[in-house]
Amino acid sequence: MEQRPVAEPYRIKAVEMVRMTTREEREAAIREAGYNTFLLRSEDVYIDLLTDSGTSAMSDRQWAALQMGDEAYAGARSWFRLEKAVQEVYGFPYVVPTHQGRGAEHLISRILIRPGTYIPGNMYFTTTRAHIELQGGTFVDVIRDEAHDPAAEVPFKGDIDLRKLEELIGRVGPGRIPYINVALTVNMAGGQPVSMQNLREVRRIADKYGIRVWFDATRAVENAYFIQEREPGYQDRSIREIFREMMSYADGITMSGKKDCLVNIGGFLAMRDPEILQKARELVVVWEGMPTYGGLAGRDLEAMAQGIYEMVEDDWVAWRIRQVRYLGEQLLAAGIPIVRPIGGHAVFLDAKAFLPHIPQDHFPAQALAAALYVDSGVRAMERGIVSAGRDPQTGDHRRPKLELVRLTIPRRVYTDRHMDVVAYSVKHLYAHRDQIKGLRMVYEPPTLRFFTARFEPLE
Ligand code: F0G
Repeated sequence: MEQRPVAEPYRIKAVEMVRMTTREEREAAIREAGYNTFLLRSEDVYIDLLTDSGTSAMSDRQWAALQMGDEAYAGARSWFRLEKAVQEVYGFPYVVPTHQGRGAEHLISRILIRPGTYIPGNMYFTTTRAHIELQGGTFVDVIRDEAHDPAAEVPFKGDIDLRKLEELIGRVGPGRIPYINVALTVNMAGGQPVSMQNLREVRRIADKYGIRVWFDATRAVENAYFIQEREPGYQDRSIREIFREMMSYADGITMSGKKDCLVNIGGFLAMRDPEILQKARELVVVWEGMPTYGGLAGRDLEAMAQGIYEMVEDDWVAWRIRQVRYLGEQLLAAGIPIVRPIGGHAVFLDAKAFLPHIPQDHFPAQALAAALYVDSGVRAMERGIVSAGRDPQTGDHRRPKLELVRLTIPRRVYTDRHMDVVAYSVKHLYAHRDQIKGLRMVYEPPTLRFFTARFEPLE
């Protein structure tokens, strides 16, 4: 018997029409956008896989929750509802809302990082590292080696290499490490998960040296699914239970609600230490807003609270991962080089292997993302040399081993049929890959350059 199919655990109540453009229109649009998919107009995009951030479809209950928003300047009922949701699902007693994830990164970096300190983590993320460096800290990558190899099939490719962590602690001393930053899942490695065992061990090492552990919990729900699927002893535990155990190993988290929490805007910092809470409340009023709204409307707090309960439902999470795999497996079957195993939020094309004729300094992933847009109106994102930026010491490009194009799947937005369209286009490009040319950067902003850099095709 063939396998019984599983369908979306929801039905569609409102639709947003999208328009397919002509190839001529797309060629003009990408030229105008400086070959940077971030600079395209969304109206010119057919299937938008730029990011899973803030692009989720909210549920009917979340839309209803918007109406319940208490817009009082201080002490709004909506704030208490969010605080309770974080306490119940994440298990942290204290919460400080922020407008999005980087708002929380900003606060914790200001509170804990001093010049000359080191922050070990499982691969960098762009905004996280930018905030570390703005405070004079240095990010140190302590992820296991396999994470830098797109083809290495490892179940928990996001794990921290404990030997690298111990080595750093021995070299600089625990007093110069304000916290260990563990990302769940690891975005830049391909949405790869961290095992419960690894979280436990990181906690043990941190306790041995008196160092804090801070999670970037942005996609921790997806991480919980991989633990349920792959780690012995977790098959019969619910996502919500696994999620709660994961969080028990952290002193606090930064959170972008725009991913797991199924909202279009919002984030928070959560923690156990009342002194850090105190400092975060002092800072949040300067940078975000009152500690009971943190740059968000009351309705945003309501929608995020509702999203927090929905995000840990087993059927939902299983469907989410299944859809990402549905796309990835079609590409694997066609022999297209992608990051393996397929991660939680996206399928990542390995641009170095896809376009071996384009040297990294000619931005192969940027060129591939632009070519995909021209072929089918599918918008993806570069995650390679452009995203990695420049080394603040040497001023030279950082040249990451991973030169990737991310096909990021928004939550509850597209059907499998959209995935078929994407797969077809990628296969079509792969068949004609020798026609794709490299790019030259003609405008480069000083920080987070990938957002607004401009390019021209090389002849
Ligand atoms: N941490 C991770 C792992 C992220 O992926 C992001 C955002 C942030 C922190 C910052 O959160 O955007 O709410 O300020 N990632 C988006 C992406 C932008 O497309 O991967 P934010």
